[in-house]
Amino acid sequence: LHLNDVKFFSRHLRARRHNTHKGSYGSVAVIGGARGMSGAPLLAARAALNSGAGRVYALFVEDPLPCDSGQPELMCRLADDFDLGAATLVIGPGLSASRHASELLERAIASGGALLADADALNLLASSPALQTALAQRQASSILTPHPLEAARLLGSTITDVQADRIGAARKLAASLNAHVVLKGSGTVIAAPNGDAVVNTTGNPALATAGTGDVLSGLCGALLAQGWPLWEAALAGVWLHGMAADVLVTEGTGPIGLTAGELIPAIRVALNRM
Ligand code: APR
Ligand code: MG
Repeated sequence: LHLNDVKFFSRHLRARRHNTHKGSYGSVAVIGGARGMSGAPLLAARAALNSGAGRVYALFVEDPLPCDSGQPELMCRLADDFDLGAATLVIGPGLSASRHASELLERAIASGGALLADADALNLLASSPALQTALAQRQASSILTPHPLEAARLLGSTITDVQADRIGAARKLAASLNAHVVLKGSGTVIAAPNGDAVVNTTGNPALATAGTGDVLSGLCGALLAQGWPLWEAALAGVWLHGMAADVLVTEGTGPIGLTAGELIPAIRVALNRM
């Protein structure tokens, strides 16, 4: 993917026209945040909000609900109280592998809309053939964003095998689960169920820090909510995420010590320049 692909992406950017309102830009609901892991869904939710989604909910597996005093625009709720059909779903950040989390994933897969599964949602999928079948049979297709270990669990193989043939691993997962697959890491691979695959050229080791994957899932979720097709949302999300990190490193905010939260405003700038 190269800079001139911006032209390709920008076809899908819906300019903010005068006569629009928040309902014109979609809703994202991030589902995760088991006890002690509230930061992960909050990072994803903040990323979705700052990437243009009209409304963003952070849905938690269990009480107590954290409050994100730094981003009061987010609506924090219990996932059990939310109609999952009402938003584009990003499920997995800090979700845990509990029985309750598994039930939420089952409900999310059964919902009719666009779905992005990350982190613990992928670990739950790896241990449940029934959930894998339900995912593969979805009408509305899905995006999965595994890092190499999550991909290895889903494939029943090892990190070494995945890294030895990253394109092959991503394509195999995409075909077997009927989903768009983003295999993360240096040279992120994006693969479609039809076998198409590309390797991203943006990004750098400043991203090797906790929470940057959560930011990516929120960003891609926001593009889906704004009406981008799955393939383009995955490509543009990965490209912008890496580009934001590249710009920050050029400015001296990294590679050492860049934080996932700092990536979010840089993504917003990259998106507006697109
Ligand atoms: N070069 C380019 N990109 C990189 C590099 C690198 N050297 N290292 C990491 N990245 C990018 C990846 O491509 C990905 O987009 O940073 C992001 C890291 O995402 P994750 O591996 O999911 O890391 P993290 O956000 O910390 O995950 C949070 O989810 O996967 C679980 O167990 C994990 O609980 C943790 C949570
Ligand atoms: Mg992750």
